[in-house]
Amino acid sequence: SAERSARRGALIVVEGLDRAGKSSQCEMLQTYLAERGHDVKYIRFPDRTTPIGKLIDAYLRGSADQNDHSIHLLFSANRWELAKSMQRDIAAGISIVVDRYSYSGAVYSAAKANPTLSLDWAWQPEIGLPQPDLCLFLNISTEAAAQRGGFGEERYENEKMQTRVREIFRALFDRQDKVCVIDAGRALDEVAKDVHIAVEKCFVNSSRNEPLGTLGP
Ligand code: TMP
Ligand code: MG
Repeated sequence: SAERSARRGALIVVEGLDRAGKSSQCEMLQTYLAERGHDVKYIRFPDRTTPIGKLIDAYLRGSADQNDHSIHLLFSANRWELAKSMQRDIAAGISIVVDRYSYSGAVYSAAKANPTLSLDWAWQPEIGLPQPDLCLFLNISTEAAAQRGGFGEERYENEKMQTRVREIFRALFDRQDKVCVIDAGRALDEVAKDVHIAVEKCFVNSSRNEPLGTLGP
């Protein structure tokens, strides 16, 4: 109906540790929404295809080094370079499923325990980016994540880092609203069921009658 097409899209973020099943859930969610007649896109951060994304990719694969603060700002810049197009899509009625966002950005950097790179410092460059309508945190123990075919070869994919990341995710999500914690240590379709319930709630939520917000401090 005209009323429905006038409605903006929803910005849905999926967060979690490496091996929590984010990409599988994002793909299943995209299909689920498309089958229900929604216009929907699936994007992921880092977006390794842009010039900034290529620097990030080299850093993650270990073929290039970067100062902790510098790589942190590149991850953030990688979101800023896509912010306008995300806002345009949302305004045009397209919903976006985002695989990792500012939360990963702040948490992974803060997990390095660099004395001048606190969680607060790490959050600052995210302020002003599009505000998700919903953030799904796929919660999994580091042991369960490690059992899922083991960690990969990239930087950060080790138990010590993942344990810290998990702790800091929890600390960050304690002070964010619109976060839904989902037990991701279960079978894919069971997790998907909970994801769908949370997303359905978000879709009927009246906040979508207001313009997309921006991330605050
Ligand atoms: P990926 O495995 O989802 O492609 O993400 C690559 C790694 O980058 C992952 O270990 C999380 C980390 N990361 C950051 O450190 N900062 C960020 O802003 C993002 C989006 C990811
Ligand atoms: Mg990964």
